[in-house]
Amino acid sequence: MKKLAVFASGNGSNFAAIVEATRDGRLPGVEVALLICDKPNAYVNERAAHLGIPTFTFDPKAFADKAAFEAVIVEKLQAHDISLVVLAGYMRLVGTVLLGAYEGRIINLHPSLLPAFTGKDAIGQALAYGVKVTGVTVHFVDAGLDTGPIIAQLPVAVEQGDTADSLAARIHQVEHQLLIEVIGKLAKGKIEANGRLVRELA
Ligand code: GAR
Repeated sequence: MKKLAVFASGNGSNFAAIVEATRDGRLPGVEVALLICDKPNAYVNERAAHLGIPTFTFDPKAFADKAAFEAVIVEKLQAHDISLVVLAGYMRLVGTVLLGAYEGRIINLHPSLLPAFTGKDAIGQALAYGVKVTGVTVHFVDAGLDTGPIIAQLPVAVEQGDTADSLAARIHQVEHQLLIEVIGKLAKGKIEANGRLVRELA
């Protein structure tokens, strides 16, 4: 069994989509063993309780710095025997402590076709820029802001009259599909990274 930890800061629709996929047969051999959340009031905590997923929720302000809370996170990951970390709406840069323990085993979901529109509100940034196509990226995490090697991307067309909400709804649908596909391939050892270049093995 491959044990995953999902990190999230907000709504948690991707977290729920992953859990569902592990339970309905789309992700055989994969279990979501832990939710890590940096926002005590985030809705994702309720989703985890409802789905029966163990949760570690913390308030970053209660720690001296990022290294201090990441040291506790790494302890939790190891205690739960986690082999893959999935950042799904975790709105925080990963620091040296977590990267040191899990580099190459942390992936991030981002709602744009990277390298365009990094950081917060990528959907709003894409709308404001006026691009006609945006999309979804899943990439390995490095120390930068959405800069790690790209594993998979899918486009989403921007339609005339789109609002941030209407575009986000279509992006979320694509996210739920792409993230699950990538997790499945990683769990089967079908993804190989060589520097920036990531390829899928047959
Ligand atoms: C997703 O759109 C994800 O791509 C984005 O946060 C949203 C979380 O949605 N992540 C980032 O912007 C990271 N830079 P969810 O909480 O409903 O899964």
